[in-house]
Amino acid sequence: MEKVFGVILAGGIGTRMGNAEKPKQFLEIGGKPVIIHTVEKFVVHPGFDRILILSPKAWVGYTEDILSRYIPGADKITVIEGGSTRNETIMNAIRYIESTAGLDEDTIIVTHDSVRPFVTYRILDENIRFAREFGACDTVIPASDTIVQALDNEKITDIPDRRFMYQGQTPQSFHASRLKQLYESLTDQERDTLTDACKILVLKGEHVHLVQGEVSNIKITYPYDITVAQALLGKR
Ligand code: CTP
Repeated sequence: MEKVFGVILAGGIGTRMGNAEKPKQFLEIGGKPVIIHTVEKFVVHPGFDRILILSPKAWVGYTEDILSRYIPGADKITVIEGGSTRNETIMNAIRYIESTAGLDEDTIIVTHDSVRPFVTYRILDENIRFAREFGACDTVIPASDTIVQALDNEKITDIPDRRFMYQGQTPQSFHASRLKQLYESLTDQERDTLTDACKILVLKGEHVHLVQGEVSNIKITYPYDITVAQALLGKR
């Protein structure tokens, strides 16, 4: 029977955030850690059989502590260790699923940045639906600025037509066994250059369907984004 896993990626340490006292997913907005806001969105969606949270090794216990404090009784959630890169973190999730629940061809993972706390019910819904229907999907919004390409970082090499340009968000959702199979077929060098999980499929010519994101589905990357997130919470 098909199983759907929420995979919340919290294995990074947030270097672009500067000298924060903890990784950005644990900083507080609106009185609770960013990651708690994110996990709550998954917990209220009935489509997930299990929710995995992947934290840096040193923060696994801390993640469990804040979960039991803010979301007590959430027995669907498991915290495990992330990997050295974002894609390795996703692979840790898939390996965990394989060794516990087993990996069927139709097992779906909805992978999401722990630092995108404003994901919506509709976005999660469509991710599950489109992953089921098309095998893979990526959440995007139409590019608001014109995209300028400069391959040498000095002069313009192209200005692609904005009507066909999008900005990538998350979730990105997949048939887990297919993603693992394709990832394992890459060379080490290819793996190093692929920061984006969807690109693993795109490189191999596979269908990745678009899910319409939201402008408010921001990623907390820089200190400025914390201010924006506070403002977004204040508006609700
Ligand atoms: N992530 C992960 N495992 C890694 C690296 C990143 O699960 N080895 C997660 C982060 O925790 C974050 C998401 O991927 O939720 C998006 O990545 P990014 O914003 O780049 O996070 P960091 O790597 O933490 O930040 P930075 O690039 O500034 O160091």
